Amino acid sequence: MYAAGLYGLKRAVIILPVAWTGAWLGYYAYTDTIRRSHIRDRNDELAKTLSRLPGEGSDFSKPAEEIEREALKKRYSSLKFAGRYWNPYVEWREQGAWEWALWKIVISTITLKLFYNGGVPPERPIPDLPLERPDFSLLYPSTTSSIYPVSSGKPDTTYRSPGSGGSDVPVTDKLTCTWLGQSTTYVTLDNLTILTDPALSDRTLPSRIAPQRLRPSPCELSELKRVDVVLVSHNHFDHLDPEAIKELGDSCEWVVPPGVGPFIRSFGVTRVTELDWWQETKHTLSRPGQKDKEFTITAVPNMHWSARSPLDTNATLWAAFHVKSHSEKPKSFIHLGDTGYSPTLYHAVGRVLGPIDLAAIPIGSYEPRWHMHLQHTDPEGAVRMALQMKVGKSVGVHWGTWLMSDEAYNKPPLDLELARQKLDVTEDQFCVLPAGKTIVIE
Ligand SMILES: *[C@@H]1O[C@H](CO)[C@@H](O)[C@H](O)[C@H]1NC(C)=O
Ligand SMILES: *[C@@H]1O[C@H](CO)[C@@H](O)[C@H](O)[C@H]1NC(C)=O
Repeated sequence: MYAAGLYGLKRAVIILPVAWTGAWLGYYAYTDTIRRSHIRDRNDELAKTLSRLPGEGSDFSKPAEEIEREALKKRYSSLKFAGRYWNPYVEWREQGAWEWALWKIVISTITLKLFYNGGVPPERPIPDLPLERPDFSLLYPSTTSSIYPVSSGKPDTTYRSPGSGGSDVPVTDKLTCTWLGQSTTYVTLDNLTILTDPALSDRTLPSRIAPQRLRPSPCELSELKRVDVVLVSHNHFDHLDPEAIKELGDSCEWVVPPGVGPFIRSFGVTRVTELDWWQETKHTLSRPGQKDKEFTITAVPNMHWSARSPLDTNATLWAAFHVKSHSEKPKSFIHLGDTGYSPTLYHAVGRVLGPIDLAAIPIGSYEPRWHMHLQHTDPEGAVRMALQMKVGKSVGVHWGTWLMSDEAYNKPPLDLELARQKLDVTEDQFCVLPAGKTIVIE
C-alpha cells in the first residue's frame, strides 16, 4: 500500500510539471501561429493598398496621404483573440512567464545579480538623481506665494468637485512638461492640464517587498491645482496608483485603453473614456469667462503587455496617447507609456501623427536586453523613435525611480548621451530632467 502510494507520488512529481509545461507550450505555439497569420494578412493588405498609390479613379477620391494613413491605422490596429490582446508587430516574439523565470532565477544566479541593487549608493539623496520642486508660479501664473503663504507650509488639499478639473486657477498657455518620476508627467498645453500614468506613492505596491522609490516624489498630487485629463497607458502597478484614482476621482477625465475602465470605475469614478488604438475622443476645456477650447486625444499603438494580477495577463490593452489642440497654432504631445522599440511601428506612427511638439519617451528598464528589448526600449531605440515620429522635444522618462531591471540606476542618461552622439541628436532635442523640474517648450 505504502510503496504504491509513494510510486504514485513519484509519478505525479514527474507528470504534473511535464503536463503543465506541455500545455503552455501548446498554448503559445497555437496562439503565436494565429498571431503570425494575422500579421501576414495585414502586411499583404497594406502592401496592396500602398502599391496602388498614388491613387486614381473613384476609389481614390481622397488624397494619397489620407489613404496611406487609413491603411497604416488598419495595419496597426489592436489584435485580440482567445480573450487576450497580442502585439501585431513583426519584431515581437512570444515571451511566456518562463522567460521571466529564466531571467530572474537561472540567469541572475549565474551572473550574480540575484540580489543586485543596481549599484545604488547608500547616501540619500542620491547625488546623481537630482530632485527639484515644480515651478508652480509658472504653471499657475497668478498663484503667487501671497495666496499660499510660505509660512503655512504645504497648501491645503485641492478641492476637486466632479467635472471641475480642480481649483479655478488660471493655467499657463505655454507648452510645459514637468517630470514627476517613472512615467508620471504633468503637461500643460494651450491651458489644458494633462497628467500621465499617475504614480506618486513611495512604493509601487502597499507591500514592504515592493520596490521603493530612489528619490521621493517631487510634489504631492494635491499641489497640482488642476488636472483636466489623466492618460493611463496600461494597468501595471508603476503606471497606475489607486491612491491617485481615489484622490482625483471624477474631477478629471480618465482616458485609458480598453479593459482598464472597470478597474478605475471600481473606485466610483464615472468619467472614464476607453480608447482602442487610433480611436479618438474630443475633450472640451470650459473655463469661466473664456472661450471653450477643443482637444483631440488619440490612442496610439505601442509594444508592451498588461497585468494587474497573475490571472488577467493581457486581458486589457496597452497604449500610448496623443493630445492635440485646435488653436491657431496647434500644439501636440505624445505619452508613449511603456514600449519596446519597433521600427516598423514607429515609422507608421510618424507617418500618421508626425510631427509632434513634445514626447515623453521611456528610456529605462532595458537590461537584460535579450529579455527586455521587446517590452522596454533602450535609449538608442528611444532616440530612433523620436526621429521617426519627428518629435521637436523629447523627455526621457521611466528611469531613476523604481529599480526593476538589471542596468545600473544611473545608466539610462549615460546611454542616452551615447545614442545622441551616434544619431546626431542634440540635448535640446532629447533630454533628461531632474525629477520635478518644469521646462517650457514654447
Ligand atoms: C501577454 O502578451 C505578451 C505580448 O503579446 C506575450 O508575450 C505573453 O506571452 C502574453 N501572455 C499570455 C499569458 O498570453
Ligand atoms: C490661458 O493662458 C493665458 C496666458 O497665460 C491666460 O491669460 C489665460 O487666463 C489662461 N486661461 C485659463 C483658462 O487658464
